[in-house]
Amino acid sequence: MASDKQVILVTGASSGVGYDTAYALTATTPTNHVIMGVRNLAKGETCLAELQARKPKGILSLLELDVTSDKSVDAAAKKLEADFGRVDVLINNAGIAIKAPHATRPDLRVIFETNVFGPTMLTLALKALLQRSSAPRVINVTSELGSIASRADPTSSSYAVGQNPYRMSKAALNMLTVCQQKELGEFGCKVWAFCPGFVVTNLTGEGDRQWRKDLGGESSETSAQGIVEIVEGKRDGEVGGFVTKYGKAFPW
Ligand SMILES: NC(=O)c1ccc[n+]([C@@H]2O[C@H](COP(=O)([O-])OP(=O)(O)OC[C@H]3O[C@@H](n4cnc5c(N)ncnc54)[C@H](OP(=O)(O)O)[C@@H]3O)[C@@H](O)[C@H]2O)c1
Repeated sequence: MASDKQVILVTGASSGVGYDTAYALTATTPTNHVIMGVRNLAKGETCLAELQARKPKGILSLLELDVTSDKSVDAAAKKLEADFGRVDVLINNAGIAIKAPHATRPDLRVIFETNVFGPTMLTLALKALLQRSSAPRVINVTSELGSIASRADPTSSSYAVGQNPYRMSKAALNMLTVCQQKELGEFGCKVWAFCPGFVVTNLTGEGDRQWRKDLGGESSETSAQGIVEIVEGKRDGEVGGFVTKYGKAFPW
């Protein structure tokens, strides 16, 4: 069934940046339908009820989606095709971090499955649906820690931060972004790598929320606003780039 709304899929919408983005995109815009991709439907139902209680003007709905599972990705793509016939905006937000500076091989597999293979396979599965949009966009939620240039620069503010596995995964996601801009750009799709900044979420565990606040972490609502600006076309001049909120950008 075709939708007269802008059809937007946000992965990892059950927490942090994804949750706030789902709300920010529907709070005041009646023309958006945001599909909240969640790997845990019970948690997703609670999140959806919380956001509905805030009376968004747009539409919110849920979709079960574990980005590490081909079965889940294929089922989600089929459901989106049946329900909407197209996808206008894909926000590859779902991600995990491992705090240890050096991880085990299984740790590395898990982080790459989620942060790299997930967005790669999901975008591929949705390519035909993006192609049916008149103005398709893909936003890959990355991190400043994925910048190879910053990692190599001793004057960079993040130079001292370890997290090599996370850095490696986000650097790979950045490369995916540039590859997608080349390939999906051929049918007019615009692609960005977006860093949400250091924000207070559950990324490194709920117990780290206070640590994040103490270090000056902002609300993930600020990240959501940064994503809204891209969806609204305010960063179109930087298409294919590595951007962050407040109009700023990072070197690759
Ligand atoms: N927080 C920061 O300071 C920061 C900085 C730079 C970049 N980022 C990036 O921002 C994005 C969002 O993270 P966040 O900070 O909002 O962390 P978060 O609060 O932990 O949220 C992560 C979301 O991803 C979901 N997720 C994890 N694995 C998944 C999978 N296999 N399939 C589907 N969903 C999955 C989680 O689902 P559950 O609710 O089921 O766990 C959750 O909804 C990530 O890509 C992260 O790398 C965050």
